Amino acid sequence: MNIMAIANQKGGCGKTTTTINLAAELGRQAKQVLVIDMDPQGHASLGLGVSVSDRDLPGLYEVFSDEANFYDIVVSDVCDGVDLVPANISLAMLESLLGDQPGRERQLLDQLERFGGLYDFILIDCPPSLGLLSINALRAADQVLVPVEASCYALDGIRQLLDIVNLLKNKYRIDLPVKVLPTMFDSHTRFAQTVLSQIREQLPVGISGVRVRHTVRAREAAWFGKTLPEYAPACTAAEDYRQLAEELLNATLPARVTYIDNEPLTEDMTMKEYAEQAQRQMVVLTFDDIDCHRLQIAGDFNDWIPDRDIETRHINGHWQKVFTAEPGVYEYRLVIDGKWQADPTNPSEIPNELGGINSLLQVPVHH
Ligand SMILES: Nc1ncnc2c1ncn2[C@@H]1O[C@H](COP(=O)(O)OP(=O)(O)OP(=O)(O)O)[C@@H](O)[C@H]1O
Ligand SMILES: [Mg+2]
Repeated sequence: MNIMAIANQKGGCGKTTTTINLAAELGRQAKQVLVIDMDPQGHASLGLGVSVSDRDLPGLYEVFSDEANFYDIVVSDVCDGVDLVPANISLAMLESLLGDQPGRERQLLDQLERFGGLYDFILIDCPPSLGLLSINALRAADQVLVPVEASCYALDGIRQLLDIVNLLKNKYRIDLPVKVLPTMFDSHTRFAQTVLSQIREQLPVGISGVRVRHTVRAREAAWFGKTLPEYAPACTAAEDYRQLAEELLNATLPARVTYIDNEPLTEDMTMKEYAEQAQRQMVVLTFDDIDCHRLQIAGDFNDWIPDRDIETRHINGHWQKVFTAEPGVYEYRLVIDGKWQADPTNPSEIPNELGGINSLLQVPVHH
């Protein structure tokens, strides 16, 4: 079993197209494949011909809340060799359900460990955000494939994903190989090449040897709810996805690297940890007027390691940092596009030992 998350919080970069066409190709090569549609938009389900009315059926939400069995939500043979867990209506509520549960990052992994053994490949189509749905997918995955369309924000998107991968690494000691897949590739412009060389130089990721070329057939196939091998097997992108399947089949499967050290890894929290956890407050900091490519936060609450244990959201141009901390007063600073500084949106400040200014955050006791 080889579990691959197809993720990038940047929207419209080809995650869903890659998921369904790679799955269809692997299926054609007599592999047993399961596609999991983790995106409430349900595009992978539609692209594999599952209609909107079927989306009232039970889904992952019902499985995670013990109202349905994993097998009950699998739709068999959506195309040759491919089964599908469709996105249903309640998937959108899953993040909040998971938010309340202990071990919330590993719910999907638990299910796949129990029920995924039938499949050679499990491909998870992630939504364009890095919330708990994506984190569940990454936690379950052995590798991450990041479709990237050449654009000036491409690097930034990959960096944010790498931050989450690092977070998983620190927290669970899992080393997740990350591979970039150039999509909607236009070989006639140099820009795409430039973006790729920047990725190669600046980021610790692998890059697939395949370039998925731009073709109108991709959009048409999606429109008809068909995969490229069915709709236009001779088009450029269909050929590229064939090559991607080859690349995947020929690769030595990346081992899930789990660090071994003296500290036992207990994922089930003890009662004491539950109690401490319960005391922790959810902190949501919104930065309204900071215009930058990358905003990180470091402070007493995360050992001053930028963005460690912090979830970043970027909503309508506003940055948000979400984390938990015990009640108390904390000093912190922001790292805006790589530059450390006090939080310009927060008037409470205190001089630090280095002659600079730290910002102050008070986390109140919850009543
Ligand atoms: N190789 C390609 N050539 C041309 N168009 C493509 C190609 N791949 C994908 N597209 C089109 O680009 C659009 C976005 O693709 P897709 O839905 O796969 O992206 P996504 O990353 O899943 O988006 P979202 O973030 O919304 O989930 C779709 O209209 C799709 O048909
Ligand atoms: Mg998608």
